[in-house]
Amino acid sequence: MKQSRRDFMKVSSLLALAPMAAGFGMSAFRGTAMASTSGAGSEAVKAGANEYFKKSPMASGRPFDYSMARRWAPNADLSDFASVFPQIPGGIAQDKLLKLAEEEMGQWMAKTQKSDEMQKRGMKHMPWGVFGCYQKDWETPHLLFAERCMGNKLWDVDGNEYIDLNFGDTPDMYGHGPENPAVKACAKRMLEDGISPMMGNEDQLVVAELLAENFGQPYWMHAMTASDANRYVLAIARHHTGRPNVAIPNCTYHGTIDETQKMMPEPGVIARWHDLGIYHGEVDQGTKIFNWNDLEGLEELLKDRTVAIVMMEPVMSNFGWAWPKPGWHEGVRALCKKYGTLLCYDETHTISGGPAGMIGELDLKGKSDFWTCGKAISSGIPGAVYGMSEAVAKKLQKDQGEIGFLTGAGLGFLGNALCGNTLSTLALRVTLEEVLTEKTFAKINKNVAYMKSEMERVNKKYKAPYRIETMGNRLCYHFIPEQAFEPLGGLIQVGFGGLFEFSHAYLWNRGFLLMPYFNMVIVAPQHTKADTDKFIAAWDDIVRITMNG
Ligand SMILES: Cc1ncc(COP(=O)(O)O)c(C=O)c1O
Repeated sequence: MKQSRRDFMKVSSLLALAPMAAGFGMSAFRGTAMASTSGAGSEAVKAGANEYFKKSPMASGRPFDYSMARRWAPNADLSDFASVFPQIPGGIAQDKLLKLAEEEMGQWMAKTQKSDEMQKRGMKHMPWGVFGCYQKDWETPHLLFAERCMGNKLWDVDGNEYIDLNFGDTPDMYGHGPENPAVKACAKRMLEDGISPMMGNEDQLVVAELLAENFGQPYWMHAMTASDANRYVLAIARHHTGRPNVAIPNCTYHGTIDETQKMMPEPGVIARWHDLGIYHGEVDQGTKIFNWNDLEGLEELLKDRTVAIVMMEPVMSNFGWAWPKPGWHEGVRALCKKYGTLLCYDETHTISGGPAGMIGELDLKGKSDFWTCGKAISSGIPGAVYGMSEAVAKKLQKDQGEIGFLTGAGLGFLGNALCGNTLSTLALRVTLEEVLTEKTFAKINKNVAYMKSEMERVNKKYKAPYRIETMGNRLCYHFIPEQAFEPLGGLIQVGFGGLFEFSHAYLWNRGFLLMPYFNMVIVAPQHTKADTDKFIAAWDDIVRITMNG
């Protein structure tokens, strides 16, 4: 078994605390899956009764383009986490860096002892000691417990104050608490109107109109999470086309869905991200995987006309970032049309791009059959939406009407009792009307542009070949200078194996709450220039230290 990210993060030894609690979190990739698939060669492998790694025609057999990734990490390979550490000319040695990361982490852990106690107490009745799956994904020696979060700040139970740059992994990206008008309106709604009448209300009408105007799809439905919205879209697409399979790019994330929690560690091989037997069926059942930016590979998978839908982000933004090459989106659209396959953009993270998300920025509005979004679209109040074309919506309604007795209950498969509740709907309405606006983004963009240029100035000062990228209110620092167009390059730039671990531990320990998966900084409307300047000073330290200064 080769090395997983978990092995890099042996930062617990200083305090003799528990080892990393969990496999690597969702947004980048599951380190444990990488480790186990890589050791397996190309044969089918079983974990208990479950086959989780398989050579399969459902995975594109076309070679991966590793050329960029291997310029920085000569042995880079998607199937081995130990291979992805980039060699930076003039950069600090990896072992030294890991030692520094360990020291920073040790100090942070020492400051958060009450969290440690709480996790121990929580372990008696909750796996990992916390309720939420993401909450275990910090992979710190002990997990963190929060007292409260408000505006641009978060306070942990030990009284440490943080400038929040994570916002719950994006749901609260327009700020925690009532400074966000959607949150304020919802608090009032709960007190005055109640939330579950199981009837439509006027907000729904306005929201559907606003969604249609802003994102292009003419018909809309509500879900409680982005995972659910995507799940319903896959189901509707299968129904609409009568086809069994879905297709996704390699290393994508669309939530807690069996068909999309799979990857292609090497050409022609499908693996689960994890080796748990939590999903039934063969690992390649229902899912085809292609390489991002590889139109020929996609065409090979679509040719047999068994693919109901291609689901992807407008820009791959969960495994590090990988950008679309010119012609990619047009090509995907043309292939989908040629083979009768539907297309869905999942904008759950790329909504950061601007008031109409990255489909607005990339001129993709209304050019797909479906569009989904969760988390920040309702300012962090639980809720998600999926939009669909007229053809899809009309057939869905017609078929539902014709199926007969008990079909009303059957439609429950596309939603549950909480969908369309008045609270989430109001959150959507206010977010669309007052938060996702040019005015909000003008403010944020100014701050983001300042942060980017200052960070670039620091990079130059220390001759660091680092790169700063932005996607609206999300900023990423990368440890290589090249832009990534495929997921391995996307991973190399994160600097797993020392640069990632050190920079995160350093920032956490100094009061910046950065998300635990990769190097993403969220800039909220509530962040002040003082917050930004404090962050830039910390970035100066990180660059100096990692460049041996
Ligand atoms: C692109 C994308 N789709 C779907 C999801 C799943 O969202 P949720 O956890 O709300 O189901 C995420 C979560 O990060 C995401 O990034």
